[in-house]
Amino acid sequence: MTDSMSSSNGQSNFDYEYLGAGLGLRTPHIYTILENRPTIDWLEIHICNYINGGLNQQLLMQIAENYPLSFHGVSLNLGGTEPLNVPYLTRLKQLTEELNPKLVSEHACFTAHKGEVFHDLLPVPYTKESINHFASRITQVQEFIGRPILIENLSRYVEYPESEFTESEFLSALCNKTGCGLLLDLTNAYVNQHNLGIKLEQFVEELPAEHIHEIHLAGFSHDENWLVDTHCAPIPHEIWSVFDAFCDRYGKRSVLIERDNNLPEFHELERERHVAKQILNHYENPVTIMPPECETV
Ligand SMILES: [Fe+2]
Repeated sequence: MTDSMSSSNGQSNFDYEYLGAGLGLRTPHIYTILENRPTIDWLEIHICNYINGGLNQQLLMQIAENYPLSFHGVSLNLGGTEPLNVPYLTRLKQLTEELNPKLVSEHACFTAHKGEVFHDLLPVPYTKESINHFASRITQVQEFIGRPILIENLSRYVEYPESEFTESEFLSALCNKTGCGLLLDLTNAYVNQHNLGIKLEQFVEELPAEHIHEIHLAGFSHDENWLVDTHCAPIPHEIWSVFDAFCDRYGKRSVLIERDNNLPEFHELERERHVAKQILNHYENPVTIMPPECETV
C-alpha cells in the first residue's frame, strides 16, 4: 500500500483534485476531439475498452496528452465470488501508471458468476457478509494498483429481502473499511427513488459527503411505470435540479455527463457540459441562477 493511500483506520489520504465538468469519451467522438481540441475540463473513459491495446489505445495516448482523464470500469466484478482477474488488474495498473488518471472508479455490483458474464451491473444484498466481501476485494484492487478507487452506486430494479442495511449504509461501510471514495450517480439515485421508493434526499444524506469525489449525471428512459437507466437521452430538468440541490447543500464536486446510447453529435454533449459548468460556477460566485430548462425524456 502506498503512502498516499491508507492509514490504519482505512481512511484515504489520496489527494483528490476538483476537476470541474467533464464528458464521457465515446469512440465516435475521439477524432472530433483530437482534431478540434475543444476546451473540456476532463474526460472519463471506459477503461475496459483500452485494456487490450490496439488502435484505441494509441488514440487514448493522444487524448491523455491534452486532457485530464478518469478511468471508469465495469469489469472488476467486485461483488463476484470468483478470484479477481489478475491480467486485467495488471493492465489497469500499467495504464494507471502510464497515464496517471485523476480518478479510477468501479461499481458496487457483480457482473459475472460461474464463468458467465452478464453484461450488466447487478446488485448484491446489503449484508454484513457482502460488506466484508466487497471490502476485501476493494482492498486487493487498491493495493494492486497502488491507489484508492471510487465506488459508484447502482440503478437497481429489485430489492433483496436478505438485505440488512440500506445501500447508503453499505457504501459508507466500504469507505470506512477500505479508504475508497464514492462516485455518486445522481441519476441512478433518482431512478431508484422512482422505481423502489428509496428517497433520494435521504440516500444522499446518509452517505459520507467528504468521500464523494465525483458525480455522474445521465438521462433515462420510461418503460411503462419504470424509469430505466439507459444513458440514451439528454439529461432532464429534474436531474439538473437534483444536481443543483446537491451542490447547494454539500458543495460542488467534479461532475461528468454520462451518455452511452443514442449518442448525439459532440456539440450536444458539450451543450450539456456547459449547463453543468454553469451550475458549478454558481457555487463559485454569490449569484443566484437556475439551470436552464432542458428537454425532458
Ligand atoms: Fe454512472
